[in-house]
Amino acid sequence: PSQALEHAFAVLRENDRGTYTVPTKGLYPFQWNWDSCLTALGLAELDEDRAWTEIETLFAHQWPDGMIPHIVFHVPSDTYFPGPNVWGTNRPTPTSGITQPAVAGFAAKRLFDRAKDKAMAAARCRALLPKIDAWHRWFYENRDPHGEGLVAILHPWEAGRDNSVDWDEALAQVPTTGFAPYTRRDTDHANPAHRPTKAQYDAYMWLVEHFRALGWDNSRLHDASPFQVIDPAFNAILIRACTDLAALADELGEAEIAARNSAWAQRALPALDTLWSAESGRYLARNRVTDKLIDSQSIGGLLPVFAPIPAARCHAIAEHVQGLLKVLNYIVPSHDIGTAGFEPQRYWRGPVWLVTNYMIADGLRNASELAVADRIARSSLELITKSGFAEYYDPKTGEPLGGGRFTWTAAMVIEFLR
Ligand code: DGY
Repeated sequence: PSQALEHAFAVLRENDRGTYTVPTKGLYPFQWNWDSCLTALGLAELDEDRAWTEIETLFAHQWPDGMIPHIVFHVPSDTYFPGPNVWGTNRPTPTSGITQPAVAGFAAKRLFDRAKDKAMAAARCRALLPKIDAWHRWFYENRDPHGEGLVAILHPWEAGRDNSVDWDEALAQVPTTGFAPYTRRDTDHANPAHRPTKAQYDAYMWLVEHFRALGWDNSRLHDASPFQVIDPAFNAILIRACTDLAALADELGEAEIAARNSAWAQRALPALDTLWSAESGRYLARNRVTDKLIDSQSIGGLLPVFAPIPAARCHAIAEHVQGLLKVLNYIVPSHDIGTAGFEPQRYWRGPVWLVTNYMIADGLRNASELAVADRIARSSLELITKSGFAEYYDPKTGEPLGGGRFTWTAAMVIEFLR
């Protein structure tokens, strides 16, 4: 274990750019939103001050409307597409124009709870609280315009699970012509068979150009998007973040922020429950354009265990995850083997990711499902021992896939070894 820990620290140091980390050299040469927030947990083991800086750097690029963008382009690099000119967001430091899962509230609370330097943690949190609160408000105002308690993603990149089977049906309604010709760069750094397809990239780019043509005006994007999907995982992460931010705000004497975030979570939880499918033993995504549930057996339906959902749901999810070990060597796959769309090596259509393992294990632990949580941690450590600090792994063979020397994989290893 100590060798793994040293190795993980080395990956973090290698990808540290002073005030932020890059997910990995070449493939992702900028700061990514949820990568950074989860990476801060690992950084704190090295240096608490540096961990807070990671999140603060991200929030220094908050939009005036409250959104935290999914990429901050701190320094130019030509190894990534789509770069700042394609996004055209007109920010002082260029950023993308979409967001990512709202893990910051969870990360801030976890850093605060564990802080050795409590006075510093309290000061840093007090400054971050109103910014995270404004981001949460942004979600419910802009992505839930009819107040149903659930927010929609408008681009698969917002979910972080870019090419999940969950989006196939909704993405098929996005045009794939009429945008500028482009050259992908991701396939220079990673095996194309591990990455999204050209058809998916075409739809991704159509959406980017469509939103850019609307001036990235978030009051217009939701209704104007042909892609509006309610992802249970994305909503659950936001609910957990609201719950954690409320507790943190309460501890720091910020009563209004505490009340507001707690109210958002309380309204969202019953709405999330309407996505539960007894037949699938998981939550399902809903296409807001057609108002239909999406029948896809993906990890997006298991991740809600990260939120304070009912114990019976947690137990069903624990049993499901346990059952996957009968057919796979490593858990938790991003899509269930033996169901439509599963591909063991293609990004979010089957491979195991340590960040989703971490969130599922954390939720199961909170629900006292300790044996399954421990089993997920064991799988995660077996994968890095066998295959190093990859971006993701084949759930059958444990083979390393995508990028290498990966920051958040290292951060999660530090977490699993605590
Ligand atoms: C990519 O470029 O693959 C990223 O996942 C988008 O955020």
